[in-house]
Amino acid sequence: MLTVTELNQRASEIIRKNQKLRLLLTEGEIANLRTEEHLFFSLCDEESSVRAVMFRHLAERLRFVPQNGMEVIAAGSADIYEPNGMFQFRVTDMLLQGIGSIQKGFSEKEKNLSEEGIFSDSVKKPIPENPQKIGIITSASGAALQDMLHVLKRRSPSAEIVLFPVHVQGKHAESEICHALETADTQNYDVLLLGRGGGSAEDLRVFNSEKIVRAVHACKTPVISAVGHETDFTLADKAADLRASTPSAAAELATQKQYPEILSDNHEIILSVSQIQTGDCLKILLPDGAVIVRAERKEKKYIMNESQKMQLKNYADRVENKLSAVIVKMQKQAESRNLQMPSLFDAMRHSLTAGGKRIRPALIYAFCELCGGAPEKADASACAMEMTHTASLIFDDLPALDNDDLRRGKPSCHKAFGEATAILAGYGLICAPFSLIAEDDSLTPEQKTKIIKILAREEGASGMVGGQVLDMQFETQEHVTAEQLETMCLGKTGALMKAACQMGCLCGGGTSEQVENAGNYGLALGLAFQIIDDILDVTSTSEQLGKPVGSDAQEDKQTFVTILGIENAKKRAEELTALAHEELRKFSDSKNTEFLHALTDALLIRVQ
Ligand code: IPE
Ligand code: IPE
Ligand code: MG
Ligand code: MG
Ligand code: MG
Repeated sequence: MLTVTELNQRASEIIRKNQKLRLLLTEGEIANLRTEEHLFFSLCDEESSVRAVMFRHLAERLRFVPQNGMEVIAAGSADIYEPNGMFQFRVTDMLLQGIGSIQKGFSEKEKNLSEEGIFSDSVKKPIPENPQKIGIITSASGAALQDMLHVLKRRSPSAEIVLFPVHVQGKHAESEICHALETADTQNYDVLLLGRGGGSAEDLRVFNSEKIVRAVHACKTPVISAVGHETDFTLADKAADLRASTPSAAAELATQKQYPEILSDNHEIILSVSQIQTGDCLKILLPDGAVIVRAERKEKKYIMNESQKMQLKNYADRVENKLSAVIVKMQKQAESRNLQMPSLFDAMRHSLTAGGKRIRPALIYAFCELCGGAPEKADASACAMEMTHTASLIFDDLPALDNDDLRRGKPSCHKAFGEATAILAGYGLICAPFSLIAEDDSLTPEQKTKIIKILAREEGASGMVGGQVLDMQFETQEHVTAEQLETMCLGKTGALMKAACQMGCLCGGGTSEQVENAGNYGLALGLAFQIIDDILDVTSTSEQLGKPVGSDAQEDKQTFVTILGIENAKKRAEELTALAHEELRKFSDSKNTEFLHALTDALLIRVQ
């Protein structure tokens, strides 16, 4: 048996020794050029392409600057790049022949179609403001579909979304896309989204097909195209009524008018295609293979069982103990430098220990365990997060911000210790997390760097701090939309929830995909959490909350209650909770995913 390394080594050796693949000339057109330290590109002809690399010291000797579309004769040898087993052509020299035939063909086609008026602005149809029936033409398995659904379900929850699954590259792509465009055009869609995710120039080539360009042009339904990344531009993009830079942007452009204006009472939640396969969804196959993606059942309600309640309590107790020890250590360190300031540490203890719900540490521990890490790995992050969150509360209560006198059932920090000490205690709690994580020997340097980066980013100006700034700004702003409010709350509350979930994954050694999914879960959960917080401010009592009620109205806050009303706010929280569950389902089932599902629902119906 061979290891993968040995397999690649063996293949590489065979290729390197084969005279037929050494020191040869090959003719092709340059595509996908990336100039990094070395030149990376593809050499293509009409049917095939090969990856090519030219090292910098050789590229510097070229007498022309290589560009996409150039036809060249390249000298070099074939080999295998062993770390990923990729066949490639290692170029030692190149001779420029002129503009390649692929590029020439593209330019000619573009010119002819343009002369026919196919790309003209005068034939572009307007995109409706509030489309209720949206057709998507893309691959059922691509990330582009997920990106579009994600945006659509956030911005236009009541719309009916129909997918026309097609190949977006390969020999069937052209005919399938043309057929889907023709079929969809007869079915009264308000708008069609045509697209695919990024890829190499060869991958996107079909979107330059004349047949597809003509099919887009012939559509009576407005078409928004989104092919590849921002920098990719195909002829299908030019023919569309609107070109979006990415699939998500196409979905944004299709839903310019959005929640809450179009929130209807019987809106449906659109679920992702991955869930169609698990049988969670209604799947209606229409004559031409279109699939209606729509939730079939109401979300299952999770109720915390006794062992899950115990798990939550254990996490809370665990972080409580660790935090006490951390403060003792910080105080000793200060005293060893002759900095005697018991009141600062008393103030920290006052706000930090005993009283908080410890939701963020629980998320950190649960995601850490979910990704296979022991709770010990997450202790520093759990303390760091709770210290950061507590500091944000100390600041939030100051007279300059929300001016609240009660927090976690006790006088607010500035009430008990004075404003100066409160500010400095908060300041201390903001700084400590970074050394706490950096000094944790159970984490690798890479884990520490990533965790610190996430914490710093999410608590800062582009996260929690940014949200708090908008929150203050909105107090005097006349009109605030639901979307602006959501943006603000994604910052002030969502960002730290996201950071908690992502830090947990990193502590547990999770993959980058897990980190991303956990982040999305945290954002949805955080926003739902803030909606409930806003509702509780008008429906609960200060005994239950441990903080004043009616504070938002007193401070002229714009909240989900003032903008949506309690009922619609609740609905939005439910919707976000459903999204959070959906993100969790991307993790394989385990005791910890069950715990997180249960915690997610418990937070929706919380009264504290
Ligand atoms: C309060 O957060 C601030 C908000 C983001 C709404 P929590 O409700 O988690 O506060 P504690 O930690 O339990 O006191
Ligand atoms: C605060 O939101 C979020 C923070 C970043 C602290 P709120 O101002 O609504 O939080 P409470 O209601 O005072 O806990
Ligand atoms: Mg506030
Ligand atoms: Mg407040
Ligand atoms: Mg509040």
